[in-house]
Amino acid sequence: MAPGGPDDLSRFRAPVGTADVLPPESSRWTALVAAFAERAGRYGFDLVVTPIFEHLEVFQRVGESTDVVRKEMYDFEDKGGRRIALRPEGTAGVARAFAQHSPVVPWTVWYVAPHFRYERPQKGRFRQHFQVGAEVLGVDDPQLDVEVIALAHGFYRALGLREFTLSINSMGDEADRLAYVRVLRDYLLDRGAGLGETFRERVEANPIRVLDTKDPDWQDVVEHAPQIRGSLGDHAREHFEAVQRGLDRLGIAHEINPRLVRGLDYYTSTTFEFASQALDSAQDAIGGGGRYDKLVEQMGGKPTPGIGFGIGIERLLIACEAEGVAVAEPPTADVFVVDAMDDASEVTLLATELREDGMRTERAYGGRSFKAQMKVADRSGARFAVVLGRQEAEHAAVSVKDMQSGDQVEVPRELVAGWLQERLEADPRRELDSKR
Ligand code: HAM
Repeated sequence: MAPGGPDDLSRFRAPVGTADVLPPESSRWTALVAAFAERAGRYGFDLVVTPIFEHLEVFQRVGESTDVVRKEMYDFEDKGGRRIALRPEGTAGVARAFAQHSPVVPWTVWYVAPHFRYERPQKGRFRQHFQVGAEVLGVDDPQLDVEVIALAHGFYRALGLREFTLSINSMGDEADRLAYVRVLRDYLLDRGAGLGETFRERVEANPIRVLDTKDPDWQDVVEHAPQIRGSLGDHAREHFEAVQRGLDRLGIAHEINPRLVRGLDYYTSTTFEFASQALDSAQDAIGGGGRYDKLVEQMGGKPTPGIGFGIGIERLLIACEAEGVAVAEPPTADVFVVDAMDDASEVTLLATELREDGMRTERAYGGRSFKAQMKVADRSGARFAVVLGRQEAEHAAVSVKDMQSGDQVEVPRELVAGWLQERLEADPRRELDSKR
């Protein structure tokens, strides 16, 4: 164990592949989640919260042949001998909750949650990452697919992102997919006969998984593989065409990528992915999703179609930074209360009053010198510093310093909250903050 290395516990560090989100970075997170919640609300979505861990079997429904389930799951036995896994993705838990509670459909929900995948950490790829996501259960209408895609698309645009593309594909109905798997398996086993045992095993396990391989030796065979569109039945084809027309109607640019298979096995019909050109191509997916019309049944519920997407928060913020998009400025104080009296509880009283009246109020502690407190007030970015001084207290007043102009006035103690509020409300900088 190397001293100072990631496993050196003489000085604790966050586990490899995880990150602490500290202020002022965290203010970008609050802004991003608030913007998503607000937009999801406009589309009629409400928050759902499912457990951070589930019975292992719930996540196994995501697909036995996927890396997410086979290699990356954080699973363990709990003290009661149950097989448990930390959430690697959000949809399985939502489908399980739907099957368990049978809510009225359409069920439109959004979430923000940590996800866990034992991946090789690199920029934009973590072992704990956060997603905001949305799911709709109970509607099999291509117009809904268009709206769900529009929700994600509009969110990226509203943040200010421009350098991203949308790829779409259809995985067909269950029968189409089964037919395609047969055709694809035969083709890959035949044409890839010389590609070795690993290739053969991967094809046997799930030939669709081989389509998005990054292995250069497999590319030629994969590039010429038959495409799913040749296996789509009438229902899936018409559905997919309607989705494309719907996106055109909304002016949402998209390209069809027949090799877009996504990393999870539950997808049927429409799949989609947003990629940022501002990111490295290995981690350029800033969000993705699709239909999963069989998943609720697999969770023991009534047959119910579903569609949704997940957006990686860390990756999205990296993309924003790369595009030079400011998600949020760190918040600054409205008021700083400076204590130049013997009784510090007077500061606590005034600060509490101002906070209750809606002003972001900071203060100094521990009887520091007036000069030192004014320095902190300056650093806080506060618009006004309120000085509780002995002299002013003698005639029940306080001094207020406008930190921009440097002007100082005396205001009666009883009136100071209203006095500050009035001026802060007229401050264009503050108005801007509340609109972000
Ligand atoms: P996913 O494509 O596996 O889909 O993940 C969604 C998004 O989460 C990705 O596009 C990416 O932005 C982010 N992400 C995934 N893995 C990591 C990681 N290791 N580090 C950082 N970011 C990551 C799903 O999870 C599906 N549940 C989406 C969905 C919802 N499909 C239907 N409904």
